[in-house]
Amino acid sequence: MNKTPYYITTPIYYPSAKLHIGHAYCTVATDVLARYKRLQGYEVMFLTGTDEHGQKIEKKAQEAGMTPQEFVDSIVEAPGGVKDLWKLMNISNTRFIRTTDDYHVKSIQKIFRKMYDNGDIYKGTYEGKYCTDCEAFWTETQLKDGKCPDCGRDVHDAQEEAYFFRLSKYADKIRELLTTTDFLEPKSRVNEMVKNFIDPGLEDLCVSRTSFTWGVPVDFDPKHVTYVWLDALFNYVTALGYQNDKYDDFDAFWPGVNIVGKEIVRFHAIIWPAFCMSVGIPIPQKVFGHGWLLLDGGKMSKSKGNVVDPYLLSEKFGVDALRFFLMRSFPFGSDGNFSNELLINTINVDLANDLGNLVSRTTAMAEKYFGGTLPAEQAADPALDGELTAMAAELQGKYADAMERFAPHKALDEVFAVIQRANKYIDETAPWTLAKDMDANAGRLARVLYNLLEATRICGILLTPFMPETMEKLFAQIGADAGAQSWDAAGQWGVLPAAVTVHRGDALFPRVDADAAIAELEEAAKAAKAGNGPVIETEPLTEEAVDFDTFCKSDFRAVKVLSCERVKKSEKLLKFTLDDGTGTPRQILSGIAKWYAPEDLMGKTLVAIVNLPPRKMMGQESQGMLISAVHTVDGEETLNLLMVDDKIPAGAKMC
Ligand code: MSP
Repeated sequence: MNKTPYYITTPIYYPSAKLHIGHAYCTVATDVLARYKRLQGYEVMFLTGTDEHGQKIEKKAQEAGMTPQEFVDSIVEAPGGVKDLWKLMNISNTRFIRTTDDYHVKSIQKIFRKMYDNGDIYKGTYEGKYCTDCEAFWTETQLKDGKCPDCGRDVHDAQEEAYFFRLSKYADKIRELLTTTDFLEPKSRVNEMVKNFIDPGLEDLCVSRTSFTWGVPVDFDPKHVTYVWLDALFNYVTALGYQNDKYDDFDAFWPGVNIVGKEIVRFHAIIWPAFCMSVGIPIPQKVFGHGWLLLDGGKMSKSKGNVVDPYLLSEKFGVDALRFFLMRSFPFGSDGNFSNELLINTINVDLANDLGNLVSRTTAMAEKYFGGTLPAEQAADPALDGELTAMAAELQGKYADAMERFAPHKALDEVFAVIQRANKYIDETAPWTLAKDMDANAGRLARVLYNLLEATRICGILLTPFMPETMEKLFAQIGADAGAQSWDAAGQWGVLPAAVTVHRGDALFPRVDADAAIAELEEAAKAAKAGNGPVIETEPLTEEAVDFDTFCKSDFRAVKVLSCERVKKSEKLLKFTLDDGTGTPRQILSGIAKWYAPEDLMGKTLVAIVNLPPRKMMGQESQGMLISAVHTVDGEETLNLLMVDDKIPAGAKMC
């Protein structure tokens, strides 16, 4: 069969810190899809890489005392860096692009000029809201509670001369693309795009910056650097040779499939196709927006310091077990909660128990009863064998349906239904009972074991994209040669020779002692944190100005603690009686019991705002608020009351 070449990509990750399990999740999923297509006989181009320009990286490098290039090199190329991680995780990418690669930089300059020449990029003045962390501009209406709708951080006003891309011109085409085709999946993401971005009206997009220099210079106006998302999105085609001579694969492989996380669907489903239309290349074949791996129900993030380290998990449980877990446990289009317990349970139940035992029991019985080689004379029993053989025969089709729908978790459900059926078949056929009378039952026993080996072989082929290394071991144990491992062979029953020889080996997936493993993981996580030093975060400065008169209306006073006690039935509240210099004691309730014992605060001089309207808390009135400093250490909120010199008299105004 003549198959069209297949192209699939991951996002290119920011090398602003070591990658975590969330990045590994996307890359493993894309690898599984790439391997699946290769198994089917497609020529596959699989691209991943790093998105290395922009203000965020420039800032990080500065903090680390390096040039931006040294900084990104240290994260991408150095031992233990991004490239090493993908090697360790057995990622089969054909190419790795870095946006600092010379050929990419030159291609971006040509692309920018092309869009300028065709009138889609023009010069103007940018006035708007910018989120430094997401490198994204937002309009007032797109902000969520005044903050960046993606990351929730503060945005700031930006005004500068800039180049703009006529995104508005493409609004109708993008709407049509999203609403009348399968371009964006899962479908649930389409509505979100249309409602949040297209319906309010697409505005032209600012595509150059002058406030920093770490980016691709606009060659005809070099004080501008190219907006990092324009630079980044075109990676999918420059890596094939678009606008450069480094490669010559564009015609063969584009358009491809872009796998991305849900938070960057907007860039891929709206801006990216508009860019493609502007330069006159086909839009991607598909954008698939997968869900997030969450930790304790919340977002994992490098800055929160609550990330899960894929190196550690691969080392501890094996790369294949980790790859499998990621694909088995989280429906690809939805969010899922990561936990060590779930990981260990999946390994023990699916891999050690169901799959591992199936292989070890079957090969052990073949050795015990037949010295490893089954006799060719075998006796079928359609009534007992029928269900297993029928399920195994249908498996490939169901699996392929799921994989084509970008549902690797569903494909694994199908495979494991057959594995579980095979284990049940062992109980139903009771080979150990048949073995009691070998003269009468040898042929039947041989067929039972043969059926088990065949079911295992078919499952093994379909599990290869998920666990390539371990499936090689499985094939060796069940006596399946290369011809019995192909995609076509997964669609056929009876490929192993009747007189197959098995080779019993080590357990494919040793059982994990859950308690011990969890204790070790927690220990390792602590050690890793200690090695890196605590991650301290303070809230970003508020960009919005407050006029002086408004500021002066807030009445801050020195107050002295006359008494302090816990509020009954409240874990958080302390009740203060304070001297505010008026002669009348002032009562303030403050949610700081987690950080202070009442007796430690007696007599201290604190700062309170005294003209807030009184408020009831747990039935008691609070007449103001004590001021404290807050920040987080390793993701944990930390609070310090503002204490001032005891020489300051009660009632002194702070201004
Ligand atoms: N550089 C941009 C992408 C440019 S693509 C032209 C970027 N980089 S990133 O480093 O932030 O990586 C984002 C991607 O990593 C997500 O879209 C997702 O695929 C993956 N993930 C990062 N954290 C994740 C989770 N917690 N869970 C699942 N995937 C996550 O955005």
